[in-house]
Amino acid sequence: MTNIAVLVSGRGSNLQAIIDSIESGYLKSRIAVVISDVGDAYALTRAKKHGIEAIFVNPKKFASKELYEKEILGVLKTHNIKLVLLAGYMRILGKTLLEAYKNRILNIHPALLPAFTGLHAQKQAFDHGVKVAGCTVHFVDEILDCGPIILQRCVEVKEDDTDETLADRILEQEHKIYPEAVKLFVENRLRIEGRKVKVIKS
Ligand code: GRF
Repeated sequence: MTNIAVLVSGRGSNLQAIIDSIESGYLKSRIAVVISDVGDAYALTRAKKHGIEAIFVNPKKFASKELYEKEILGVLKTHNIKLVLLAGYMRILGKTLLEAYKNRILNIHPALLPAFTGLHAQKQAFDHGVKVAGCTVHFVDEILDCGPIILQRCVEVKEDDTDETLADRILEQEHKIYPEAVKLFVENRLRIEGRKVKVIKS
């Protein structure tokens, strides 16, 4: 059983989707720990409700990103973590975590990468006037929202959409493709070849 850690900063609806997928038996893995950089993140409450260890690591207590990530790394090692999921984690990862967990960190982004990286991606896409928006699960590397793409899903933009209604429909798809991508990872069916990720048939 793959031990997973989920890093969060906010409401944790993607965390919830992963929890639900495990509880339903779709995902054969275990969330060993949820770590937040925000003390009152609702994601921490969600984790506790499901009996998952939930830890706030306060970045302000550390003099540098390296020291902060070393603390997180200690938690990951203690829990024998094999896969790290970023789920609304609002920090750019540094070398410490990226090197220790190379090709074992996934992220969900609410746009069809490589378009609309960074913050408020749904609004960026909406304001740009796209007809098709969507979401992406990808491996995390040193460049923001840039690592090899595992899964993407499209969402059509409707005439009467606002950036918020669009974001809601993208989120519904996020909750589907994140568990799907995690399943592929834990079943060892992903092969990174340069920028491409090959999915091995089951
Ligand atoms: C999601 O839209 C995700 O794609 C982005 O941050 C948001 C987190 O939402 N990276 P939640 O905390 O999972 O509800």
